[in-house]
Amino acid sequence: MDKALHNRFSPGSIESRDLQHMLHPITNLELLHRTGPLVQERASGVYLWDNNGKQYLEGMAGLWCTALGYGEEELIRVAEDQLRKLSYGPTFVGKTNEPSVLLAEKLKAMVSFDADRVFFGLSGSDANETQAKLIWYYHNLIGQPERKKIISRLRGYHGTSLAGGSLTGLPQFHSHFDLPLPGFLHTESPYYYRQALDGESESDFCDRLSGSLEALIQREGPETIAAFIAEPVQGAGGVIVPPEGYFPRIQAVLDKYGIILIDDEVICGFGRTGRAFGAQTVDMRPTTMTVAKALSSAYLPISAVLVPEYMYEPMIEASGEVGTFGHGFTYSGHPVCAAVALRNLELMEEREIFAHAAAMGEVFQRRLRALADHPLVGDVRGVGLMGGVELVEDRQTGKPFESSLGVGLICMEHAHEAGLLVRPLGDTIALCPPLIITVDQIDELFGKLDTALDKTLDQVSDQMSG
Ligand SMILES: Cc1ncc(COP(=O)(O)O)c(C=O)c1O
Repeated sequence: MDKALHNRFSPGSIESRDLQHMLHPITNLELLHRTGPLVQERASGVYLWDNNGKQYLEGMAGLWCTALGYGEEELIRVAEDQLRKLSYGPTFVGKTNEPSVLLAEKLKAMVSFDADRVFFGLSGSDANETQAKLIWYYHNLIGQPERKKIISRLRGYHGTSLAGGSLTGLPQFHSHFDLPLPGFLHTESPYYYRQALDGESESDFCDRLSGSLEALIQREGPETIAAFIAEPVQGAGGVIVPPEGYFPRIQAVLDKYGIILIDDEVICGFGRTGRAFGAQTVDMRPTTMTVAKALSSAYLPISAVLVPEYMYEPMIEASGEVGTFGHGFTYSGHPVCAAVALRNLELMEEREIFAHAAAMGEVFQRRLRALADHPLVGDVRGVGLMGGVELVEDRQTGKPFESSLGVGLICMEHAHEAGLLVRPLGDTIALCPPLIITVDQIDELFGKLDTALDKTLDQVSDQMSG
């Protein structure tokens, strides 16, 4: 393909230069060369402006991450102060810095399980890579080297690194990348709308899924299964909220075989589901936890893995044999990222952001449910300040559109035109506004989405009849 042919932007423009130089992550590259990029120029609160001065309401918190919105002066000040004081300091070989220590202390006090140690990274993917490596390391150290396999779920999203991408249960993250690696297994998603059998109740559905998890464990050999990883609510896989009773059923199976539960709170953590952590909303009892994104409201990149004391103790004991604990990143415990994350968590407390998000979540969910009457909408689902709107060809049967029509992308284009940022996950439109959103702004969000849905309906009806 001659990429230049598709570059309709004026030479020298950022759009044109982007198309010449950038390799975009998680993008349909061929489509990008036809449509060009959206150049985000500045942002404040819950609004963002492109390079043509067009204003958008941020309906996706960037990538589910800008919890406190944009341009928060207090976080900018803390970053600047820390840059002046200590712009970098490693945490390898016995060095440390105050912001990392205080952040580790704060996180341990916040989480809903008995966490003892905090390991810092920079992204959700590297944190889940760390999770997999710690699980392997731990089982080797306690004399169970055969216990290595990790089970995740179809439609789960855990990043794109080698372990993270293997844990992810979406085909486009595997094909041509030679993933998943051996030892990464997938079980069903609690996607009741699409996966329930005819007439199956939510409770029977949960029983079937926990039964099929147990069957997988039996087939593989329970002594080979180390861990199960799950997002409380599956985000990038389509905003899939598990039916009530799902996690307690899954947990019973894991407990029966002594399998560790890794709670991936990268999207759900810090107020998104109406509670501090998604685990509390869906009744999950984590053994370890991954956090990122809203940990710093995306002002700077930082992630963390929290593990219990019994996993840390053998690691200390192993020092006599292995010497160095051989895992870590140059920027693990970066003082500026840690200082910003710490202040971000303090601001969340001082401003009672979780309570605000819970209250706004109720308003948001009411408006979301009202979309169920729209002729394009097959299913609406969500909890707190996250939602998914699944667009279908036939509301009665749930028949999906041909994927080649790109209905989700069409709807995103109309939302952009209306001044609303959303993300299509196939034909499910994801919504995840900053936690600071107000009632009036929720009203504005759904007003714009209504317009986008109506225009999508017109365009798709034309395309299908023509
Ligand atoms: C649940 C979950 N885990 C992990 C990740 C990966 O995070 P990152 O993109 O920072 O590597 C994401 C990203 O969206 C996520 O949603």
